[in-house]
Amino acid sequence: MSVPFADLQLQYQTIKGEIDAAISAVIRDNAFIRGPNVDAFEREFADAVEVKHCVSCANGTDALYLAMAALNVRPGDEVITTAHSWISTSAMITHAGASVVFADTDERTFTIDPAAIEAAITPRTVGIIPVHLYGQPADMDAIMAIAARHKLWVVEDCAQAHLARYKDRQVGSFGVAATYSFYPGKNLGAMGDAGAVVTNDSALAEHMTMLARHGGLTKYQHHIEGINSRLDGMQAAILSAKLPHLRDWTKARQDAARIYDACLNQVEDVMVPTVGPDRTHVYHLYTIEHPRRDALAAHLNANGVQTAINYPTALPFLAAYSRLKARPEQFPNAYRAQGRILSLPMFAEITREQQDKVIELVRAF
Ligand SMILES: Cc1ncc(COP(=O)(O)O)c(C=O)c1O
Repeated sequence: MSVPFADLQLQYQTIKGEIDAAISAVIRDNAFIRGPNVDAFEREFADAVEVKHCVSCANGTDALYLAMAALNVRPGDEVITTAHSWISTSAMITHAGASVVFADTDERTFTIDPAAIEAAITPRTVGIIPVHLYGQPADMDAIMAIAARHKLWVVEDCAQAHLARYKDRQVGSFGVAATYSFYPGKNLGAMGDAGAVVTNDSALAEHMTMLARHGGLTKYQHHIEGINSRLDGMQAAILSAKLPHLRDWTKARQDAARIYDACLNQVEDVMVPTVGPDRTHVYHLYTIEHPRRDALAAHLNANGVQTAINYPTALPFLAAYSRLKARPEQFPNAYRAQGRILSLPMFAEITREQQDKVIELVRAF
């Protein structure tokens, strides 16, 4: 038996009828761009994450760009984000015209360390982008307190954290806006690229909508210079078909995480994920730490278990940021994690037998 890292085909098979019907209806109705499916998904997703507005767009990277462009970041502005994320988070700060300032992560949760944010603030800082990494909320009370004290905006990167909660409130509703990715492997995934930015601020929602649609809300009326970042009708219909299952899929991931936790937490050298207080983790990724990570990964892979490293190089140390001349001692936690982290197979449909195989192999290593 081999154990895949994720199994999108299996998920499709469990809801094939709903997905196939949704796709057929889009083709029948020629509803490829905008149209009723996109409007419906925007309403449904806003309801699901308990915010007023959802502005759909082409992917989670564009969502970050739209939020920052609508917040009018300018050259010279500094935006603080975590040293440990996917590059979209920081790259969009640059593309929106501001300067990236990295802050180290908390040693145990891999999310941005509020003390490191505070230390990175300068008179040019305008905002903070925490990432709810792997599906675990960042320390939002501390981050919102810092933002209030320094009059900074907060945009939450929720690409990996659909339905995650902090103190029983959903992530995505703390900051002025929050961005989502519906990349196929995400907890809520399309069958292609898709994304959204959500907000409770009606004016910001309208501005982001215009930016995403060539600068206007009505055809040929361009109030600003926008971009073309649309969620297409097919992806919207697929996402609407999947959304009613998200709660159950999330619970299945959490149940699977509990099994890994219970069976791996006593294994020598294995550090299972630490969940911070008041946080509900949705386990987009189940990431352990091990001092001999590469050898453990090779052992698992050689025995039919797929793993991943999210991510092998912390952001400040990527070639893309060589201009910052980052030194390991500036980001000790993110630097240390990059050599130790290993994501194990995690998906809603994973079976106990599959998990047992992973667990046995980790124990035997
Ligand atoms: C934390 C984070 N931010 C942003 C993104 C970008 O999303 P997309 O791939 O939809 O552009 C991702 C997706 O991988 C992500 O994991």
